[in-house]
Amino acid sequence: MADWTPRRFEDRVALVTGGASGMGRETSVRLAREGAAVVVAGLPDDTRGAETIAMIEAEGGRAVYVGADVAREADCDAMAQAAVDEFGRLDYCVAAAGVLHARYVSGEIAPQDVNPDRSEGHLTNKPLEFWERVLAVNLTGVMLTNRAVAKRLIAQGEGGAIVNISSGAAKIPMRGSAEYSVSKAGVWMLTRCLALELAPHGIRVNTVAPGVIDTPMALAVSSDESRRQQLERTIPLGRLGEAEDIAEASLFLLSAQSDYMTGQIIHPDGGLFVG
Ligand SMILES: NC(=O)c1ccc[n+]([C@@H]2O[C@H](COP(=O)([O-])OP(=O)(O)OC[C@H]3O[C@@H](n4cnc5c(N)ncnc54)[C@H](O)[C@@H]3O)[C@@H](O)[C@H]2O)c1
Repeated sequence: MADWTPRRFEDRVALVTGGASGMGRETSVRLAREGAAVVVAGLPDDTRGAETIAMIEAEGGRAVYVGADVAREADCDAMAQAAVDEFGRLDYCVAAAGVLHARYVSGEIAPQDVNPDRSEGHLTNKPLEFWERVLAVNLTGVMLTNRAVAKRLIAQGEGGAIVNISSGAAKIPMRGSAEYSVSKAGVWMLTRCLALELAPHGIRVNTVAPGVIDTPMALAVSSDESRRQQLERTIPLGRLGEAEDIAEASLFLLSAQSDYMTGQIIHPDGGLFVG
């Protein structure tokens, strides 16, 4: 049977953060499938990164894994430079790295144990470090990623496109996870500001704001059958999202098919946050 996969990113180079798992992994695989060479960035000690690279190489794609903590400016510069050093250029970025909860980042608790409704998550009870850590990764990390990429795109002088992964939580406040909602609302506004600053360089910046997606981050819901079914009853399209739903939205916003869109937000959420 003929392979009808489009090749929208042939001879182009993409950087994807959060590429060791979930949406970042799926986005990396799909970019490579459509012809891009991919710098897959993730935490330095994350062994899942090698699995993403193996998946891409198994399909004949080109990719390298770069260990980088997006909360560190030097790491962000290094991962953007890796694209130029390894593949000779940089054209696209998807900033998908993110954390739901500070204790989840530190490995202190497993994702399935995160329950944002617990009162320990309320701002009056939360240690300041939790707030600072989530903002450092989810908001400052996206800004540092975006500007490291933008500097190289400007120097290259051929335009480019950036997609930042926000969340429905940017629109709907989450009880017990204020820092997450605030960080994701910040990503939305950051995207709009950068879209204005980078438009003269032909660089587009857009946001994808997913609903609840079946990735490691949503294990608390997806691994508990009754919670999952309860949630699915509230989602107009009747199911959790998949990483591929978000990857497809991101690829659309990187591609020439969205050439006249910048500073926009789209919500692949099955209708969850429509009302
Ligand atoms: N899963 C959902 O329901 C959902 C919904 C809305 C938005 N999101 C957002 O989607 C993005 C991708 O998450 P996912 O659902 O694929 O979950 P995920 O946990 O599989 O992916 C997040 C990735 O970010 C990486 N990461 C964490 N801290 C980092 C740091 N300091 N530096 C570099 N990498 C770091 C993690 O190691 C992981 O690979 C996140 O920004 C998340 O906030 C997720």
